[in-house]
Amino acid sequence: MTPLLLTDRLGGLAFGGDYNPEQWDEPVWKEDEELMRRAGVNLATVGVFSWALLEPDEGRYDFALLDAHLDRLHANGVAVDLATPTASPPPWFTLAHPDALPVSPDGTRLTHGSRDTYCLAAPAYRDAARRIASALAERYGDHPALALWHVHNEYATLCWCDHTAAAFAAWLRSRHGSLDALNDAWGTAFWSQRYTSWEQVLPPRATQWHANPGQVLDFRRYCSDQALAAYREQRDAIRVHSDRPVTTNLMLPGYQNLDLWAFGRAVDLVAVDHYPAAPGIDAAADTAFGADRARSFAGGRPWLLMEQGTGTVQDGDRILGKEPGEILRHTLGHIARGSEGALFFQWRQSRAGAEQWHPGMVPHAGPDSRVFREVTAVGAALGRLAELAGSTVTARVAVLHDSDAWWALDVDGLPSAELDYHATLRRTHRALWDAGTTTDFAHPEQDLSDYRLVLAPALFLLSGPAAVNLRRYVAAGGTLLVQYFSGVVDDRGHAYLGGYPAAPLREALGVRVEEYRPLRRDERIVLSDGSHGTAWSESVRAEGAETLAAYTHGMLAGAPALTRHRFGAGQGWYLSTRLDDTGYAALVARLLAQAGVGPELPGLPPGVEAVSRHAADGRRWLVLLNHRADAVRLPAQPDTTHDLLTGGPVGELPPGGCAVLRGG
Ligand code: GAL
Repeated sequence: MTPLLLTDRLGGLAFGGDYNPEQWDEPVWKEDEELMRRAGVNLATVGVFSWALLEPDEGRYDFALLDAHLDRLHANGVAVDLATPTASPPPWFTLAHPDALPVSPDGTRLTHGSRDTYCLAAPAYRDAARRIASALAERYGDHPALALWHVHNEYATLCWCDHTAAAFAAWLRSRHGSLDALNDAWGTAFWSQRYTSWEQVLPPRATQWHANPGQVLDFRRYCSDQALAAYREQRDAIRVHSDRPVTTNLMLPGYQNLDLWAFGRAVDLVAVDHYPAAPGIDAAADTAFGADRARSFAGGRPWLLMEQGTGTVQDGDRILGKEPGEILRHTLGHIARGSEGALFFQWRQSRAGAEQWHPGMVPHAGPDSRVFREVTAVGAALGRLAELAGSTVTARVAVLHDSDAWWALDVDGLPSAELDYHATLRRTHRALWDAGTTTDFAHPEQDLSDYRLVLAPALFLLSGPAAVNLRRYVAAGGTLLVQYFSGVVDDRGHAYLGGYPAAPLREALGVRVEEYRPLRRDERIVLSDGSHGTAWSESVRAEGAETLAAYTHGMLAGAPALTRHRFGAGQGWYLSTRLDDTGYAALVARLLAQAGVGPELPGLPPGVEAVSRHAADGRRWLVLLNHRADAVRLPAQPDTTHDLLTGGPVGELPPGGCAVLRGG
């Protein structure tokens, strides 16, 4: 069965959110119908946390309310993204199957009373999840309202229980084949950790001191594979009864325990949730980061923003509201980068329960509110952008992204605690975003030949095939920047010997790193080009590369800090310290110039974002977002005669203003 394209069915971009009518009653449902029409909602995610309602006792299903709501939504012109409720098993389930409750690394078995309280390896949980997915698919698989299946919600719960131990051991057996191979992979010759039977092998539970990094890395891989298997099981049960596309919503960048490339291949439509990690201009950059990731995990195909907040912006220990206009700008930030719509968590702010203070599209204050008026304006804007559906985004620059590299860097015992994977990736992406460049993420083993520039930050773990791939990319004419502490260990987490990075890559870079020299906290080192580095330095020997900037003091004085190597038809650059923001921006600008990649729209001041989408038939749209507090005149080049948002020409973008230019 070929799943139908979501936006073909909707006739345009998706707009709506999680709809939880079970928290309300008839008069509110009636009002919802009117408000959804007013806001232009065309897709509602239903049933995400409805397990207790749908299966009040084991094996006894009650679909009365869902029947009524699906029919009601359909009659109201709202399509349904129907969720399987398996992220939140009801209390009866956990009392009947206490062995399906997750156990934390210190052996604490968690109890129900929150959500996501399950062990993916517990047979009772998996059976119950498959059964309810199948029952829902059988009943609603061809319901006229149904546009999309939403399996589970944010696969995220990790568990260290005995079911997990057994499943982990089975996974290890199939990965490594024998105990000898496992012992070798995990380096158990150190600290007398040698395993002599599979029963001795455990998940990385609380230990006295550093855990074994090989065991930790394999456990993260196992957890991701287990979640993928759980997803596939539900997806396949659904497909028996339904030809609608199936997805699951992937979680925010920093909280992800999944191999997102693998999930991207397993879903019919990549769907992500995104709540900015910081306010102001950082929220706009973070939106681009999340959206570029989602598009990349979708292999460049259209994807969907499954959740965002009308007012959820993290700021350390508090959650801030969005400023006026930000709901639209963040929404268009996702649309610009390929999303097929924008959905929110949740339609109506809850009156009670654990997330009663999480803003909704309809806030506690009701529809006579700034938030609902902005939501309505967003719905109207998306209605005018229907023609963008199905179009895609092309990038000429890629940042390498690999869960293995992230997980391997997320262990004890590294030479510095300042080697945060996501912070480093965000910083690289941010510098490109500041430069007005549209960026993809790419897997280190994939074909990179479409990219003129590839950046490899924090690529600590680099598989043998990836090292060969990167060498090939440079030889064939690509420009590659490899950043410090990359290419250090292989896919078992074993250090490459004879100098870093891994030998085939080293040839392309023309350097050999002999020694890592983390800097003292607050230490700043000055480089010969006037920039400075923090956190990290390396003793680098040039083996063919030219030195573009050298260390100026200490034992590294005179040694290369930034190098360039002409290799084959391309260039391999190596950066051995963490540059300050200005120095890093200058380096990125230099690399972009060398690779011949200009900004999406030249001549824009900082804080104005431009991204274009294009259709297979040659139509193009340029999305412009002014994140600044002042008005911005647009450069002469784009055709500014037709802004889809207003239907008229654009002269200047007002503070916080947006435009979507056809043919731009
Ligand atoms: C998401 C989750 C939603 C809701 C939201 C709040 O991660 O899927 O159910 O909790 O966060 O921001």
